[in-house]
Amino acid sequence: MKKLITFCLSLLLLSVISVYAQEKPSAEYTENYKKVMDRTQWWREARFGMFIHFGAYAVPARGEWVKSNERITTEKYQKYIDVFNPADYDAKEWAKIAKAAGMKYAVLTAKHHDGYCNFDSKLTDYKLTPRFGGRDLVREFLDAFRAEGLKVGLYYSIIDWHHPDYPNVGNHPQRDDKEYGKRTFNWDNYLKYMHGQVEELVRDYGRLDIMWFDYSFDEYSGEKWKAKELVQMVRKYQPNIILDNRLEINHGTATGQRKISFLGDFETPEQGIPDAPILDQYGNPVPWETCLTLNNNWGYAENDRNWKSPELVIHSLVNCVSKNGNLLLNVGPDARGRIPEESIRILKEVGKWMDDNHESIYGCGACQLAKPDWGRYTRKGNTIYAHWMHPNLGQLNTRGVPADKVKYVSFLKSGAELSWQKTWWGNNETGNFFINIGSSPKMPYPFDTVVKVEMSE
Ligand code: GLC
Repeated sequence: MKKLITFCLSLLLLSVISVYAQEKPSAEYTENYKKVMDRTQWWREARFGMFIHFGAYAVPARGEWVKSNERITTEKYQKYIDVFNPADYDAKEWAKIAKAAGMKYAVLTAKHHDGYCNFDSKLTDYKLTPRFGGRDLVREFLDAFRAEGLKVGLYYSIIDWHHPDYPNVGNHPQRDDKEYGKRTFNWDNYLKYMHGQVEELVRDYGRLDIMWFDYSFDEYSGEKWKAKELVQMVRKYQPNIILDNRLEINHGTATGQRKISFLGDFETPEQGIPDAPILDQYGNPVPWETCLTLNNNWGYAENDRNWKSPELVIHSLVNCVSKNGNLLLNVGPDARGRIPEESIRILKEVGKWMDDNHESIYGCGACQLAKPDWGRYTRKGNTIYAHWMHPNLGQLNTRGVPADKVKYVSFLKSGAELSWQKTWWGNNETGNFFINIGSSPKMPYPFDTVVKVEMSE
C-alpha cells in the first residue's frame, strides 16, 4: 500500500512537472522563437508564393517521381537527360506570370530527388549547364524573379537517387535491386557532396530568401544529414534566410503540440490545409505554408488534366490566410520550359481576383471570430475581411463583430458603403451583425466577394 501511494504521488509530481514544463518555454526556446518570427515576418505578410518543379523528369512527363515509381535505373534514365533541353525556358516570362497572379515569392527546384542539377554545380557533371549552352537555369531564375521584385527561394533535395554513395533506401528507384544493394555506400562521402552543393547555392548565388530542403524519413532525419552543421553553414552565408522544416521528421500532431526547432522556421503541410492555426506547445503561432499542386503532379505530367479551378485556388489561399498560413502553389513547366497553358489560365484568373482583393490577403491572418457557414474571415489590425464565398443564402451575418466599434462597412472591390442591422426577420440573437448587400448586388466575384469591416479598435 505504501509503495502504491509513493508510486501515485510520484506520478502526480511528474505530471505537475510536465504541465509546468509545457507552460514555460526555456529562455533558449523563446530566443529562437523570436528569431524565427523576426526573419519570417516578410514571408508571413507575403502569404502567396509560386513553387516550380522543373527538371529532366518533364521529358517522360509522368511527374517528378517517375524514376522511383517506375523503378528506372540511372542508365535507363539517361535517355531523358540526353533529351532535356528546355530551349523555350524564359525565366522573365515565368516571373511575370507569378507576379501577375499576385505571388510575392517563388521557390524553384535546384535539384530534385533524381539528382540532376539545374544549377552549375562544380561538384558533379550531372547537370544541365553543359548541355544548355553554358546557361545556369537557376541563376537565370533568380535574376529574373528578383528583377520583378519577388523574393526567391530554392528547393534542394537532400535525397539523391543518382549519387553512387546514396544508399538504395526509402523510395530509391533501385530499392528492390538486391545486387545494387550490395554495393558499398559511403554515407560520409554523400554528406560531403550534399553539404558542398548546398554551400555552392548559398555562397555563389547572391541573396536567397528561402531554402526549401526535401525531405527526411525514418532514421534519415536531423543529425543523419548533419543538419545542425548544415544549418550553421547556411546561416553563415545567408543570415536572414528562411528554412523549411524538412531537415527532420515532423513529430507534431494535427492538433498542435509543435515545437519550433533550430533546424527549420516553418512547417510544410503538403496537399492539405490544417484545420486550425498551427500552434506550438506553448500556444504560440507557428509559421506554416501549405504547398499545393495545380493538377495532381508537381513535375510536368502530360496526361494529368485534373486542374483545380481558380475559385478553388482562391478559396485555398483564403483558407490558409484565415489560419495564419501561406500558400505555395505549384507549376510544373514542360520539357520545353513552358508553364502549361492551363496553369497560366488559372493563374490569370487568380491574379484578377488578387488585383481587387489583395488587401484581404497580404499582411492578414486569423480573425478571432469563428468560421461562418458562408465563407471565411481574414483580418489585419482593426479590419476584418469577410470572404463571402457562398452568397446564395441571402444575408451576410458577421456574427460577433462588435457593433459599437464598427466605423465603416464596404465592398472591398469598390469601396461602396454597405449598411448593417442587428436584427433580421425576427432574428435578434445577441452578436448578430447583418450586412445588407441589397436585392440585386453587384457581385464581381460570386465565389468570394470581400466585405471590409473597419473597426475603431
Ligand atoms: C514531396 C515529394 C516531392 C515534392 C514535394 C513538394 O516530398 O517527394 O516530389 O517535391 O513533396 O512538397
